[in-house]
Amino acid sequence: MPTHYFCDGDVAVLSIDNPPVNALSLEVRRGLMEGLNRAAGDAAVRALVITGANGSFPAGADIREIASGAAFEPPILLEVIARIESLGKPVVAAIEGVALGGGFELALACHARIAASGARVGLPEVKLGLIPGAGGTQRFTRLAGPQAALEVISTGEALAAARARALGVLDALADAPLPEAVAWARRLAKEGPVPLASEREEKITAVDPQLFSAWRAAHARKFKGQLAPWRIADAIEAACTRGRAEAFALERQYYLECRESPQRKALMHVFDAERAARKIEGVGPQVTPLPIRRAAVVGGGTMGAGIAVLFANADIPVTLLDVSTAALEAAMERIRSVYAQTLERGRLSRVQADAALRRICGTTDYASLGQVDIAIEAVFEDPALKRAVFEQLDRHLPAHAILATNTSTLDIDSLAQVTGRPQQVVGTHFFSPAHVMKLMENVRGTASAPQTLATVMALAKRLGKIPVMAGNCDGFIGNRMLLYYGVEAERLLEEGATPEQVDGVIEAFGFAMGPLAMRDLAGNDVGWAIRRNRTLPPDERWSPILQRMAEEGRLGRKSDQGFYRYEGGKRHQNPEALALIESVSRALGIERRAISDAEILARLLHPLVNEGAKILAEGIASRAGDIDVVYIHGYGFPAYKGGPMYWGLQEGLEKVIATMARLAPSHGARWAAAPRLVAAAARGTWD
Ligand code: 3HC
Ligand code: NAI
Repeated sequence: MPTHYFCDGDVAVLSIDNPPVNALSLEVRRGLMEGLNRAAGDAAVRALVITGANGSFPAGADIREIASGAAFEPPILLEVIARIESLGKPVVAAIEGVALGGGFELALACHARIAASGARVGLPEVKLGLIPGAGGTQRFTRLAGPQAALEVISTGEALAAARARALGVLDALADAPLPEAVAWARRLAKEGPVPLASEREEKITAVDPQLFSAWRAAHARKFKGQLAPWRIADAIEAACTRGRAEAFALERQYYLECRESPQRKALMHVFDAERAARKIEGVGPQVTPLPIRRAAVVGGGTMGAGIAVLFANADIPVTLLDVSTAALEAAMERIRSVYAQTLERGRLSRVQADAALRRICGTTDYASLGQVDIAIEAVFEDPALKRAVFEQLDRHLPAHAILATNTSTLDIDSLAQVTGRPQQVVGTHFFSPAHVMKLMENVRGTASAPQTLATVMALAKRLGKIPVMAGNCDGFIGNRMLLYYGVEAERLLEEGATPEQVDGVIEAFGFAMGPLAMRDLAGNDVGWAIRRNRTLPPDERWSPILQRMAEEGRLGRKSDQGFYRYEGGKRHQNPEALALIESVSRALGIERRAISDAEILARLLHPLVNEGAKILAEGIASRAGDIDVVYIHGYGFPAYKGGPMYWGLQEGLEKVIATMARLAPSHGARWAAAPRLVAAAARGTWD
């Protein structure tokens, strides 16, 4: 039975036992209903406690049940909650682990909530394209007020117990929540009725009438194109402005609207894809990851400094190696500024930041790395330099240690070859800024052993990253696809589009930044330097636009001039850039024409899908979902559109084929529709 019923004196305890996360499946809801009815009918029972077995309160509704698209079989959670409210006996929630989504809604419906200090609670429905559907927006608002409700529910952030207590959504913290909740329930039974969250009015009566319009204006850009965050705001506003029954009914209506939306389906695909990506062929549960007690990072530049911060935050002591004390001091300065930002945003306390900083030490001597279990190399993207670093690491690190590289494009096998331990060499590709971007694109070399792969996948979880395992090829999954996107953005400019138009289309689609604004951010000199080191097949060409930009000193943000003009950090149209683009068109003999937004979108995104199909066919990605995860968490593809491969299916793969057929004659044979794309179009699935 997924719900156990037992008595502790005059208090009945209902314990939900549905591994792995105690989701509120039909069986659990039935068990809860039976338990509530049994407690109601037993005169010896004066109060109830609801808790979760296996160290956690429920993590929400059963996602598979929502994904099935079918109506929930009764009793639905709303009915269980209505029974708690009609019971006439106090009910207290005892929370350990997490209480999320419907799980937290169940707790919010109780008369009190007692949690372990390490517990995390929240309403993450928005991450699945949903709004809380069982009174969560209403009860949270009544306990914590609309300002906190807007902030917490629209982001889906899980709250640490102390913060939840301060907001008023938890009543007490306890080392052992269950006995404390039993005592609390017994006391409530003696003291008489206490108001339920749904009946409380105090936090919603004195609301600033401007609050909601101000919040909507402030979040217009962040939540542009999404449904659920706006419906969450509507439901919270209803809690403050409508009668109780009407507001609860509106929440339900919005929940059902979101449940039916394509965004909910796309986000649930992403949830599944992230979890599937953790499973890698040839690495079963019998493979134990190497324990990582101490790490090294070689090269303390933009990436190395960020990676060192990740280790320190995960409580792993890390030694940073760079060429000189001056380089090390610069690295430490970068690290300190990361912590200053983190402190400013309230993500860490000063005590935590100081403790993390103490876990980072610097060296210029490989002999200091004799104790580390893993080293991550993040020196300049130069193959000879990287090989020299790997030789040193192989010489000085313990025999068991793993040697990883943060290279964006280089061949993992050629690095493995210079070591005596190719089975322990692997790619760990982080994204900039490393302490912010969620993706960790791990790369398996030909010789990488299962334990090496298992170790970097497990490490990702400890570092708070979402991992994908890619095969070894030029650019791996993400940067290989990006090449086509970047090339095409410039071809569109040559043919008549403007930077504002190209970026505008991509930003309206849901990316935070278009490809040309992104180039300006990374630096056009950097982009050109990378391009100079690459060769294209004879039937392809680079647009000269990037080279011209770099040569004319239009480097992007760092020179206040690039595809845009920058003033006080704000981007503006740049007539000089347009003149440069027009002169390139003239030199190439291209007659500029009006290009529609639809054409821009197709020509930028369809090649991503096509290249993804090749990556899949070659086994560089194991699943189409892996590619989606890479693009969402590493390249800013809007999660609510499911990633390029999922989106391609919704868009219609035949349209992608048509775009590629149109581009191949002018762009080169590699742009032709991939056989795997054609096969997927015929079958309607990537599988
Ligand atoms: N329903 C069904 N299965 C779930 C689930 C859920 N709510 N949450 C997690 N699982 C499954 C995962 O798919 C995974 O399955 P697998 O082993 O077959 O891959 C397994 O449980 C373990 O999950 P994780 O790998 O994610 O384990 P972690 O330890 O990393 O994280 C967690 C645990 C923090 C609970 C995380 O799983 C999580 O955030 N879950 C989703 C929580 C959520 O979004 N809840 C809201 C649901 S919607 C809702 O409640 C609607 C309501 O308002 C009516
Ligand atoms: P960077 O130029 O900011 O830093 C490189 C660091 O390596 C410098 O601190 C330098 O002093 C140090 N270094 C150079 N030679 C060394 C040596 N022999 N031994 C020890 N340290 C040495 O470079 P960045 O941008 O951090 O890139 C590092 C790696 O990460 C590259 O392989 C790059 O392709 C990759 N990468 C970069 C991303 C980015 O956005 N910057 C994103 C993802 C990967």
